[in-house]
Formats: sequence, C-alpha cells, structure tokens
Amino acid sequence: MLKRHISLKSLNTFGFDVEASMFMPVADTEILHNVWKTNLLTLNSPLILGGGSNILFKDNYPGLVLQNLIAGMEVVKETEDHVWLRCGGGEVWHNVVMHTIRHNWGGLENMSLIPGTIGASPIQNIGAYGAELKDVFENLEAFDMWYGKMVTLNAEDCAFGYRDSLFKQAGKGRYFITHVTLRLNKKPTVNVRYGDIAATLEQWGISKPGIADVSRAVIHIRSSKLPDPAVLGNCGSFFKNPVVSKETADALCTAHPDAKRFDQPDGTAKLAAGWLIEKAGWKGFRRGDAGVHEKQALVLVNYGNATGAEILSLAREIVEDIQIKYQVTLEMEVNTR
Ligand code: EPU
Repeated sequence: MLKRHISLKSLNTFGFDVEASMFMPVADTEILHNVWKTNLLTLNSPLILGGGSNILFKDNYPGLVLQNLIAGMEVVKETEDHVWLRCGGGEVWHNVVMHTIRHNWGGLENMSLIPGTIGASPIQNIGAYGAELKDVFENLEAFDMWYGKMVTLNAEDCAFGYRDSLFKQAGKGRYFITHVTLRLNKKPTVNVRYGDIAATLEQWGISKPGIADVSRAVIHIRSSKLPDPAVLGNCGSFFKNPVVSKETADALCTAHPDAKRFDQPDGTAKLAAGWLIEKAGWKGFRRGDAGVHEKQALVLVNYGNATGAEILSLAREIVEDIQIKYQVTLEMEVNTR
C-alpha cells in the first residue's frame, strides 16, 4: 500500500529526521510484480531500505522508498556436511545468525551483531573479524526493476569485493533482493585468527571454543567498541580501510612505525582507517551534534540533531586532512542519498 510523506527517522540508524515522498512496505514478491505494472518503479527512482544501517540521507528523499519486509528462513538443501538456508531479505541479520548458532551451523558466528537485514548483506559484502558474507553465500534472488522479472544471481554474478559488489557498481539501484541462500557448515570449525577474539576467549578461560563461544566473544567486542544505534545514531564504519600499494604502506610505516597495516596476498596493503583518523587527532571530536566516536574513530556519530549534510561535511574534512597528513585517500563505506 502506497503511503505519502512518511518520516524515515526511525528507519535510518543515524536517526536523521527526513521523510520519503512515497513509501511502500514490501512483504512479498507479488507486490513488486504488481507495482512494476504501474509506472511507479520507473518514474520514481526507488530506494530500497533494509535496516537503514548503512545509509546517510542528505535531505528528504524525493522519490519512492521500498521497505524490504520479506520474512522467512527455510532449509532448502542438506548434505552430511552442509545445510543451505534460504532467508527472506527483510529478516534481521543478527536474528539469522542466532538461529544458525542454535542449530550449530557454522559460518556466521564471526559476523554476529552486524546491524541490518539479510537483503542488505550482499550489497557491501558485509564482514567482520576475518569473515565475509561471500564465504557463506550460495546465491540470491532479486527482482530486476529494469526488466520487471525475478533473477537468481550466484557469487560470481555479484562480483563481491571488500565492502563492494555489483549492487554498488553497475547494478546500483536495479535489484530488489528478495531472498539470500547461505551455505552453512554442519561440522563447524572456528576462526579465531583475529587477535581480539583470541584474547577475549583466553580471558574467559575458553581453550576449545565452539561457534557459540566465538559469537559471544564477537558480541562482547562489538558492544564494547561500537556505539549502539539505539543510543547514539551511527552507521558503523563510515569509511573503508584503504587498500594502498606496498610503496605507500612502506612510506607510512617508515614515518610512523606504529601504523597498522595488513598485507594482502596480491602485494597491496590494507591500512587501518581508524588508526589514521585517531592519529590525525579526530577521535572524540565533536562539532554541534556531529562527531567522531570516542572509542572507534572509524565511526561517525549523531549526538541527536545532526543532519546528514553536517555529518558529510565533517567526513569531507577528515578525508582532506588524512590526504594532507598521510597521502592516503579515504573512501566512504556508507551510501549517501
Ligand atoms: N584503530 C585505532 N584507532 C581507532 C580504531 C581502530 O588505532 O580509533 C586500530 C585498532 O587498534 C586496530 C585496527 O585499527 O589495530 C583495526 O581496528 P578494528 O579491529 O576495530 O577494526 P576496523 O578496521 O576499524 C573493520 C571493519 C568493521 C569490523 C571490524 C572487525 C571496515 C571498514 N570496518 O573495522 O566493520 O567490525 O573491522 O572485523 O572494514 C562496518 O563495516 O561497519 C564495521 C563495523
């Protein structure tokens, strides 16, 4: 059912007080086929909203917002070692993670507590603590809003990269992701290579962790560092960790031996944007209600009444400063509208 002038304040985790000119909740694929028969989708640059946890609204949205509310989780295939779980795009990511932990199906535990929905997870190939969506991704079903039909895309079609995919590139604005099928491990092995997880488990005296322990550790680490959007508006990491040439990383590390660098198999190096922003003096910075989180410099926060434009202007200042101080270009991870 089409609604007009709907507030998006509770539907974006930055908590910006903006509205959509038109708004439609989508609980099944039938609705998409019906809407496509009208001109609504072609004329109104539709924006698909999941949990609203990776979007910065610069202003009111003048077009149509489609809210993905497609629910459901079902096992569609099972072998001795794996289970394939097909999830509705509107399911909350963390609820699905908890469901898999209860069944002891491994693969999602390191990505516990990531905000947002299943349908949004492929857009930026979400990841945390050494795991990425693409590691467990089987395929997705989407409504192609250009041609008005359902399509199934596999991992190769989705062109996953670091916080990147087809849906941020050539396929931007084209697909409404209705379902995602995940391939999970019935005989899970844990991945505790990320230092913080190993340290937390050790501190708890757990020497043989299962996936539930890893999940608890991740929840503990995230809750201690990352602000809860229900308390303080934010979109998680605002920038990507920059991937630079070996030469750039060498130069930075020579000048700053304490710089954080993660060498990649292809010879490039990923730098910790949080370290750069902190080192440049921005951690805890606040102007009006726009700020840099005091515990994690990669997270920009809205203390109450900041606007998207204010957060964006702070972000631009940070980018410029990091460029001047370290000759490294930061790219935004969050989508802007
Ligand atoms: N660091 C600082 N100062 C800071 C923040 C970080 O020096 O203010 C240093 C840390 O000490 C550490 C390094 O930077 O050595 C990395 O920090 P952290 O482990 O907190 O992770 P991150 O690189 O800042 C990335 C993801 C997060 C994900 C964590 C854990 C991106 C853009 N962000 O953050 O994902 O949870 O790793 O895997 O890749 C998100 O995408 O929204 C997100 C929260």
